Amino acid sequence: MAKNLLTINDLTKKDILDLIAFSNNFIDEDGNFRKEDLFPDKIVANVFCEPSTRTKMSFAVAAGNLGCNVLDFDVDTSSIQKGESIFETIDALNLMGVDLCVLRHPESVIRDLAEHLPKMVFINAGEGSISHPTQALLDMKTIIDHKSDLDGLKIVIVGDLDHSRVTSSFVEGVSNFDIDSLVFCGHPEMCQKYQNTDFGIYEPDIDKALKDADVIMTLRIQYERFEKDLNLDLDSYKSAYQLSSEKLGYAKGDAVIMHPGPVNYVEITESVYDSENSVIRQQIANGVAVRMAVLSRFLSS
Ligand code: NCD
Repeated sequence: MAKNLLTINDLTKKDILDLIAFSNNFIDEDGNFRKEDLFPDKIVANVFCEPSTRTKMSFAVAAGNLGCNVLDFDVDTSSIQKGESIFETIDALNLMGVDLCVLRHPESVIRDLAEHLPKMVFINAGEGSISHPTQALLDMKTIIDHKSDLDGLKIVIVGDLDHSRVTSSFVEGVSNFDIDSLVFCGHPEMCQKYQNTDFGIYEPDIDKALKDADVIMTLRIQYERFEKDLNLDLDSYKSAYQLSSEKLGYAKGDAVIMHPGPVNYVEITESVYDSENSVIRQQIANGVAVRMAVLSRFLSS
């Protein structure tokens, strides 16, 4: 396995399946996590230069469950506020003996950092709109938990796909499997990258897109990543793309509904979020198990 987890393409199909199988050892059926002092001599720094709740906290919980020392790096009170670059910042952590850096950054800096600091292990926790490999792993685990396999499924992704690193990593991850079809759905201006691909179909009509779907992944509009003001009429956006109970009727009865969070209830109604088909809260718990597996593997290699 590669030394760092920078993109899901650092993993083979076997690595993906092994990590998911390994993650199952860390969570029981009631959602309780195994806690063991497996890495008491390892220091993990959580460096998040963009907002986060689920990813940041689940990495902290995962590292804590494995007995690591966890440094919660606070960008707002760090020397980044005095103009220090991310390179000097991470080098300083490296010189202090930090073994593994979990990094979220709006720009693509992680590859250069990994190259220049070979002693440190890097795990990508979100890179601009480009990549979010541990999210893809937890999403694939959640689907496998419910459907036992990714092969043969119709998977629909609805929302702001262009700005979504969740989508890009998920698409790379599932390209290792024999899924039946991958359908991209959303406002044409939010799906420009996905209108002509050879790995999926763009279908702007949500009713058609959802027909017989096994998995529906819904996504928030990433207002913070739009370069110009988004002149969007929310009511018409909702009537076209919000996943409601009525639209859910087009999918298979046992379709699973996913969302990486945070949920704005523009992309999905509260009743669909709370419905039996929703596995959104399980995704959060699976995030800890998958990150325990990832940290264990990458701290041991
Ligand atoms: C996503 C992200 O940050 O890319 N959230 C997450 O990691 N759970 C999606 C989002 O912010 O909408």
